[in-house]
Amino acid sequence: MDLVKREITVETITPYFVEYFGHEPTHIAAAPGRVNLIGDHTDYNNGFVMPMALEKHTVVAVAQSPTGKHRFCGSLGDQIYEIPVEEALSVGEPFWSNYVRGVLAHLERRGIHVGPVDMLIDSNVPRGSGLSSSAALEVSVCMALAAYAGVQIAPTEVALIGQSVEHEFVNVPCGIMDQFISANGREGHALKLDCASLSYELIPMDDPSVSVLVFDSAVHHSLADGAYAQRRTQCEESAKIMGVATLREASLDMLENAKAQLGDVRYRRARHVIGENARVEDFAQALRMRDWDKAGAAMRGSHASLRDDYEVSCAEVDTLVSLCDRIPSASSVYGARMTGGGFGGCIVALVKTEDVDKVASELLEAYRQEIGIDTAYLITRPGAGAKVLYQA
Ligand code: GLA
Repeated sequence: MDLVKREITVETITPYFVEYFGHEPTHIAAAPGRVNLIGDHTDYNNGFVMPMALEKHTVVAVAQSPTGKHRFCGSLGDQIYEIPVEEALSVGEPFWSNYVRGVLAHLERRGIHVGPVDMLIDSNVPRGSGLSSSAALEVSVCMALAAYAGVQIAPTEVALIGQSVEHEFVNVPCGIMDQFISANGREGHALKLDCASLSYELIPMDDPSVSVLVFDSAVHHSLADGAYAQRRTQCEESAKIMGVATLREASLDMLENAKAQLGDVRYRRARHVIGENARVEDFAQALRMRDWDKAGAAMRGSHASLRDDYEVSCAEVDTLVSLCDRIPSASSVYGARMTGGGFGGCIVALVKTEDVDKVASELLEAYRQEIGIDTAYLITRPGAGAKVLYQA
């Protein structure tokens, strides 16, 4: 993963802003990426998820533009794009600007007219590794622009705006998990979200003896986007056949009764979702009790189900998860699973803190030997959710 170790703060981004635009930013906001501990492909089925925010952020600095047009800079060293205010309310170039355009359009619909702004974005959230760099971008842009416009938008509303931006401006039919945790995360806590009601519980995850290891497979298979939308459709069809509005309302009994009508593929897709919702609950209970063996067992079950029933893993990610059972320090790993949308990206593992460095270096070496790829990892605690860092 593109592991940017640099910290990004008000103090680091301000001099760049001044260099690029010739004046100081008036508002700066930050939003984190995330890793999902358990509950994948459940959010768009109105189910349960349990992500945590990373200690990696996207930071957005803004100020009024003196040119009458927007001026956007997407990363340090990138060129500055000048875009007329009206034009910025619809889809356009460069591709990343659609995250900003989408937020501007959504604010406009709420009657919040953001005049011409200068905007600089800097981030240390790894991109393309399934750690929600897009959600971090939408949420941080929305927080910065809302602060700039002098309006308060509740974190859950910010998350919903981010999700609509994905649907309407980026064409990704995602659920709400990534934006929700980026907006609502809390330091030292995992967040159990009910995606039907959007009510949530913050569960302390601060046992110093256990560490979260996020390990990148360094692959991303191109079928990801089409396959994601296809899984969504298969779930909707399965719910319809079982006579429920969403798979959240389906039970294992209903599933068995409808087995013949569902056919093999829809049967397995639905079985994953029903089982995964139960595993989120098991994991939450384990976390409250600090029962790491039980938490690890839920993670193992989740991976097997995503691999075999939902079919969103891939050979490299399966290798990483199985290496967690085969490396010399395997007994220090409570559990591991793929995390996020799948078809590559990262695995997440719960590991004994005293051995986490050893586990990570053994995994690096074994993955290099079996797959031939040199990769990277993060050891992280649950970080904070989005916030405004500075207002002039
Ligand atoms: C992606 C989507 C999320 C969620 C996960 C799978 O990260 O953006 O909404 O569906 O995949 O759990």
